[in-house]
Amino acid sequence: MKLLVTGGCGFIGTNFIYYMLEEHPQYNIVNLDKLTYAGNPENLKSLERDHRYKFIKGDIVDPKTVEDLVSEGIDVIVNFAAESHVDRSILDCSEFIKTNVFGTTVLLEAARNFGCRFIQISTDEVYGSLGDEGYFTEDSPLLPNSPYSASKSSADLLVRAYFKTYGLDAIITRCSNNYGPYQFPEKLIPLMISNALEDKKLPVYGTGKNVRDWIHVKDHCRAIDYVIHHGKSGEIYNIGGNNEKTNIEIVETILEIIGKPKSLIHFVKDRPGHDFRYAIDSSKLKKELGWKPTIPFEDGLKETVKWYIDNQAWWKRIKSGEYRLYYERMYSNR
Ligand code: NAD
Ligand code: TYD
Repeated sequence: MKLLVTGGCGFIGTNFIYYMLEEHPQYNIVNLDKLTYAGNPENLKSLERDHRYKFIKGDIVDPKTVEDLVSEGIDVIVNFAAESHVDRSILDCSEFIKTNVFGTTVLLEAARNFGCRFIQISTDEVYGSLGDEGYFTEDSPLLPNSPYSASKSSADLLVRAYFKTYGLDAIITRCSNNYGPYQFPEKLIPLMISNALEDKKLPVYGTGKNVRDWIHVKDHCRAIDYVIHHGKSGEIYNIGGNNEKTNIEIVETILEIIGKPKSLIHFVKDRPGHDFRYAIDSSKLKKELGWKPTIPFEDGLKETVKWYIDNQAWWKRIKSGEYRLYYERMYSNR
């Protein structure tokens, strides 16, 4: 099987490429990535001489780049490429619309023209926010609250339209918050780990009582593998860790693992439109495809902290580059 993975130099894409080549040694993967601030080709350096892997620097928004690649004989397109950070989408959402909405359409058009299966990697954030009770199911309405989640919802609707209108073999997955190695240190867990390691303040938004349902990235990758091989065309599959934590619980656990004081915690102004709670019902995926998450959060978090301790050069380089300017702008008025 030959896969086109988009956004493979980002957090989940990197983990997915390693996972798939290990699980399916006979597969070939083409990785199309624009290398935005979030893309790092170094992540996949160990595959440089692997004949099963090819990296192409390019933009999913460009139809010619995409068509040239898909026309070479691709069986499945797995679309990870996206602008993925809610806080950036609040500062400026133009790139989110270009990549997440228009870029997805370019890929859908190529999948239609060349007859590929299309897997859209979406998010539980398209469902909006929950109160204290209840779970998102695949039938929950789309009620996005941030420009990021609105752009992902728009892409999901286009995927649905291509299935209904053209009969495209397309599937959408909607996963909860991932954690694990290679996550860009602007997201909660790697930001808190790296700040704690540097004895910097840990900026917790609002009260810290917002809830996310955390899943190890490897469990997410395995779910996508199941969906590629056994998912039913036109369906949506929720993927969740069944592991709800408040942000403050996460931050305190990280400090405990690293052995740093709680005095590093710094409550800052809340994110505008901050979704209160995400919780995923993934019983459809469990029942129909036999998937379940396998990595206990306590083990996964300890192993992730260890990865950031062992790979300080990786995140220190990021934190001293363009990212520093964003970070200063983001937190200057908080
Ligand atoms: P990321 O920001 O770490 O990586 C995104 C990758 O896409 C980067 O390598 C970037 O260079 C690339 N990219 C961006 N624009 C591109 C373009 N126009 N053309 C080609 N490549 C482009 O994101 P991530 O956390 O790995 O998320 C991957 C996907 O999974 C996203 O679609 C996201 O919405 C979804 N998702 C993420 C989470 C999570 O917790 N991280 C949860 C659910 C769903
Ligand atoms: P994030 O990792 O940005 O993921 P998402 O917003 O897509 O769920 O944030 C996870 C949670 O952590 C969210 O409730 C916002 C909160 N948060 C902080 O409290 N401080 C921070 O510095 C960041 C980045 C996030």
